[in-house]
Amino acid sequence: MFFKNLFKIMLLSCLPLTSTLSANDSLLIGSAVTPLNLTNGTRPLLTQAIKDHCTLLVATNDMKFYFIHPKKGVYDFTKSDLLMSFAVANDMKVRGHTLAWGQQVPDWVKNGNYTSLELEQILVDHITTVIKHFATNYPGVVICWDVVNEAYNIEDKYQKEQAKLIAQGLDPTDPANIKCPRPIWSKIGQYDANNQPIATWDPLRDYVRVAFHAARQADPDIQLFYNDYSNEGTGSSTLEVYNFVKDLKEEGLPIDGIGMQCHLRLGCYSSKYTDIVKNTMQKYADLGMIIHVTELDVSIPTTDSLGYCPTNSNDLITQANIFAGVATACLQTPACKALVFWGISYRDAKLPTTVPGFGAANPFDQYYVGTPAYNSLVSVLGVHWGKH
Ligand code: XIL
Repeated sequence: MFFKNLFKIMLLSCLPLTSTLSANDSLLIGSAVTPLNLTNGTRPLLTQAIKDHCTLLVATNDMKFYFIHPKKGVYDFTKSDLLMSFAVANDMKVRGHTLAWGQQVPDWVKNGNYTSLELEQILVDHITTVIKHFATNYPGVVICWDVVNEAYNIEDKYQKEQAKLIAQGLDPTDPANIKCPRPIWSKIGQYDANNQPIATWDPLRDYVRVAFHAARQADPDIQLFYNDYSNEGTGSSTLEVYNFVKDLKEEGLPIDGIGMQCHLRLGCYSSKYTDIVKNTMQKYADLGMIIHVTELDVSIPTTDSLGYCPTNSNDLITQANIFAGVATACLQTPACKALVFWGISYRDAKLPTTVPGFGAANPFDQYYVGTPAYNSLVSVLGVHWGKH
């Protein structure tokens, strides 16, 4: 033990910055990935970078409802099984993402004209089948599930749009006017078996409750997460999401963890940013919850459409500070158990397709060369970053 610690201290002291040390020995570090890219031999640099730097993987898309349950009664585990084999072969864990989300839901569900009770059954069957598939076939590999994704923020957007439509004198019920719809799952709890409206229908919480109870039923031990965006920093939704989760947890819903997506931009940087994020994390820790940073990326202005060319080098420095700020907050919070990048390199990012003019959001560039963000992460994470 003494020598192990001595070795660790020596190793840390070789690193440029040792400010945070290892408050958090069990921190998993990972990335969102497209399973095929790791296994079909076409992306050797990506595969190597993932092997070198990750202990935790997330499917960018392939475990979402749209892909894993594309038709009524048809489950397709091909791609996610590839991810499991890769994880097992490389001694990694997997975050399950995601079971109940408003987006990437297949047409058969959205356009099926299902009743409230039928939708509830579809969601429960889906959650049960998917959780059990991985728990049975790959015991211990999927350590947690994002059972519900973005429920609070989607409902909030919907409510704000409704208010705006009414203020503009437009019909708030006309689908043509609704750009931010509720998830199809919000219909759960709306009507009873006789098609009578249920007075207590809660379009936000009813499906969340159904989803978490079904997940716990499917697996008594796996960690169940609520995942959302804009829930870590200074925005008003940080407190709103916290209160939403706290209330549900206090009523007994089995929510073990909070996912902080952390899709960030330069604007969030301030000298207090680490303390702000740490403070938010601590509030969840005080509720007895685990924290995962689930989708970290920090987009910056780029000059090209692929998002490979940062507009100026100062942005890369600010970006590096933001990455370091989040990593420090997580490392210094013992209940923060995972730090996951939404793609490890510029080539594997969700951006810039979603935000035109922004990109270069990841710790490695398109050639898998570490950027200033990578260097700052090495400084902060020290022995945690890079396991082999
Ligand atoms: C995104 C993927 O990165 C895209 O490839 C896909 O087209 C849409 O979904 N929040 C989430 C992620 O929880 O699942 C989303 O991923 C990004 C926002």
